[in-house]
Amino acid sequence: MDTEIIGESDWNELQRNLEATIPVYDKINNFATLGQVKRWRRKAQNLLPEEGNILEIGCGPGSFAETIDGRKLFCLDPIPEMLRIAELRVNKIRNNLGHSMAEFHKGTAEDLPFEDNFFDAVCTLFSFRDWFNKRKGLSEAKRVLKPGGLLVILDPAKINSFHGYLGLFWMKYWVGGYARLVCKQKEHPWKWLTKTYVSFGTTKKYTKMLKEEGFQEVRGRVIFPGMATIWTGRAD
Ligand SMILES: C[S@@+](CC[C@H](N)C(=O)[O-])C[C@H]1O[C@@H](n2cnc3c(N)ncnc32)[C@H](O)[C@@H]1O
Repeated sequence: MDTEIIGESDWNELQRNLEATIPVYDKINNFATLGQVKRWRRKAQNLLPEEGNILEIGCGPGSFAETIDGRKLFCLDPIPEMLRIAELRVNKIRNNLGHSMAEFHKGTAEDLPFEDNFFDAVCTLFSFRDWFNKRKGLSEAKRVLKPGGLLVILDPAKINSFHGYLGLFWMKYWVGGYARLVCKQKEHPWKWLTKTYVSFGTTKKYTKMLKEEGFQEVRGRVIFPGMATIWTGRAD
């Protein structure tokens, strides 16, 4: 596993651990981010266009998708159980608001099941670090975006490798300790998930990658060092 690629057996193990987080995902995410996650999600949400087709890649249990109202929403995830929970949660809210139902698709970022030039925005929150081939995923995101369409990525990037070590302690002892209590087991999923956090690169690394993959007006903004960077770029 490195800053760009996750091998097949590691990725399968990652998916197994991600699925096991479902019952306590939001609770632990909130603790791990010192209660800041809602604020960061709002920042990402405010960047999205107010109309058009929006895709969330790696929607998980719907924690971000449920906050996107009105617009035509498509959610994608490789884990069927994530999609099942997300659909119940997101479409219940959309139904109450009288908005169109969101569509849920099984798939991966690296092979998006959508036609070219279809989306006004593609977003991905706390998922980019789990993509098994980040360049392939970015080129797919670019393919499905309309010209000028916006890509928004939110994930915890480090400032440099020293900062990465601090992150490792944070994940291992702070998040890991809490996860152990909440999950009531020593072998809780966050033990394994720390690997993707540690292998993830710097803000600069992915700003450069977005440019190399042909995105325009690329920006990488550190929202909270080691916990939240928002990258944006536009398809040409
Ligand atoms: C930590 S959850 C994030 C959930 C949600 N987006 C949020 O804001 O909290 C990461 C999700 O990314 C998905 N994922 C992992 N690898 C992926 C890939 N290659 N393509 C698309 N989604 C992927 C996982 O199945 C998981 O549901």
